[in-house]
Amino acid sequence: MRTTFRVASVAMTAVAALALASCLGGGGNGEESTGEAGGEAAATEDGGGGVAAGGTAMRLAHNQTETHPTDIALKDMGTALADGTEGRWSIEVFPNATLGDQGEYIQSVSSGVIDMAIVSAPQLENLNKDFVIFSLPTVFDSIDTQMAAATDLDKVGEIYASLEASNNITVVGPFTQGERSIYTKDGPVQTPADVEGKKIRVQEAPVFISMINALGGSPTPMAYSEVYTGLQSGVIDGAENNEISYQTQKHFEVAPYYSYTRHLVGADFLIINTNVLNSMTEEDRAAFDEAWTGAWEQHTELWKEQTQAAIADAEAGGATFSEVDAEAFNEALKPLLDEFLTTPEQQALLEVLQSGQ
Ligand code: GCU
Repeated sequence: MRTTFRVASVAMTAVAALALASCLGGGGNGEESTGEAGGEAAATEDGGGGVAAGGTAMRLAHNQTETHPTDIALKDMGTALADGTEGRWSIEVFPNATLGDQGEYIQSVSSGVIDMAIVSAPQLENLNKDFVIFSLPTVFDSIDTQMAAATDLDKVGEIYASLEASNNITVVGPFTQGERSIYTKDGPVQTPADVEGKKIRVQEAPVFISMINALGGSPTPMAYSEVYTGLQSGVIDGAENNEISYQTQKHFEVAPYYSYTRHLVGADFLIINTNVLNSMTEEDRAAFDEAWTGAWEQHTELWKEQTQAAIADAEAGGATFSEVDAEAFNEALKPLLDEFLTTPEQQALLEVLQSGQ
């Protein structure tokens, strides 16, 4: 295993570092592996999708549960990749933030401690401000228009390659996060006035901080894995996310009022260490691209199915889902577009992404 991570410089917690050290076996970074590491290799019992002796098992970290569409689609992607490359490449998936939180994945993928990760758009915004466009209100009017634009490399190829020279990271493509809404501990919100003074957990990026400020709330940046206890202990009064995260993370147990602010259609991205990607032969790279296309298509389908199931499950657990004064929220959030899209290039990217909607 190549363990060149620098604990202090990447702000990796001792727990995450320990988890990495104990979980990671061989594989990745061009190293050979038998696929016997701590994550779940995407081998199938019928002999398909296995890791060939001498094949490379890439390590992929994400922060969702094993019932989330992300984990399901990525494990199937690993199987498809191993099949398509006759075992030369496979994927070991590490769910549940066992390899740390998203803030750490960027550095870990960049340095090659892990090969791939799923990160939310705001994490990339911290490296290239243009990624903010994927977290702004009103940019996409539905999951389908979002996915059509964000998987069209004629539109987004340049921005996805923009971190290669600076960070050794290639953005492969998006998984939708669906519509994000606010949920709270003490009663639903109907207008921005109901958010006033409330401590709302946000992802660690300027756009989310501005969003809650614009609603009069008090933004509290925090890692995803800490939100449940934050809500439970009262450190925060609420958070914002989609229904599937709300249910799979069990946030409904401690914040039962889900209010449909639908303030944006969010995006996650699959990122990969650029050196690893470039070490694939042309044929294996084609298999990788095909496996990825299968993954995001499957993810989008699962997303729609699981959203309804997540709502039903959360309701059965005592949650209520209610509508808000959408106009009032739109009004309050409108200034964010001008605040964050400040260059002509960003305006042009917005136009490109929205063309076809
Ligand atoms: C969603 C998203 C995650 C992100 C999380 C968050 O669940 O898919 O990538 O980490 O929101 O709010 O932090």
